[in-house]
Amino acid sequence: MKTKLRGAKRAATLGAIALAALSLQPVAAAAAPDPGPQPGERVVGGTPAKQGEFPFMVRLSMGCGGSLYAKDIVLTAAHCVDGSGNNTSITATAGVVDLRSSSAIKVKSTKVLQAPGYNGKGKDWALIKLAKPIDLPTLKIAKDTRYNNGDFTVAGWGAAREGGAQQRYLLKATVPFVSDAQCKAAYGNELTPAEEICAGRLAEGGVDTCQGDSGGPMFRKDDAGAYIQVGIVSWGNGCARPQFPGVYTEVSTFAADIEKAAAGL
Ligand code: ARG
Repeated sequence: MKTKLRGAKRAATLGAIALAALSLQPVAAAAAPDPGPQPGERVVGGTPAKQGEFPFMVRLSMGCGGSLYAKDIVLTAAHCVDGSGNNTSITATAGVVDLRSSSAIKVKSTKVLQAPGYNGKGKDWALIKLAKPIDLPTLKIAKDTRYNNGDFTVAGWGAAREGGAQQRYLLKATVPFVSDAQCKAAYGNELTPAEEICAGRLAEGGVDTCQGDSGGPMFRKDDAGAYIQVGIVSWGNGCARPQFPGVYTEVSTFAADIEKAAAGL
């Protein structure tokens, strides 16, 4: 089972499967008042990110994460958006770890491009064009498979435990690469290995992205020491459960498509 759909549409599609804990679904945007990270509440198993540590991180108003692909384009998950076309309904918040900070940069969307052919399985990427550029560093994307290994960083304002509340402060965590074979052992044919890359602590669990982190980046350092995005938070069976890694859109697979789409947005 997997949790990846947005709302009723996908729930209907998946039927009984959607009842399970696999969740691709963004969380409701208006989070309840939240006191911030609690001691021991660590994304799941994470720690608070420092202000400016991941300047490319974006929070989207429908309850998803994203990354600055260009100063005026956010890369997120296809399941976080409703389709393609003009769209002024999304607000991107950037430049802060604290979503309630008065220095938060907030910019509206103008257009959305959902991955062509997206139908809820694989291809979980989308671009959001912003009304004006945000003057912050962007996150480059992996164009080939050479960084699809090792330890990855994930970050987001999503739930800090399965079923938990959205977070006011950005959390980060480190998750190791999980091979397609091991990931397939967990998810069978729900996994699309050529389009998805898995990460998590297989044996122990305890560290993972979770609801509301969707669309945010999974990244690492490249050979030159610069951050490079290898994944987009997509889905998983619950959060941080042993034997059930997080599933991420394999960015390298779609890098050329993303580049082309961004050029035409
Ligand atoms: N689909 C979720 C969302 O929309 C992300 C779930 C990630 N789950 C996981 N176990 N890594 O926010």
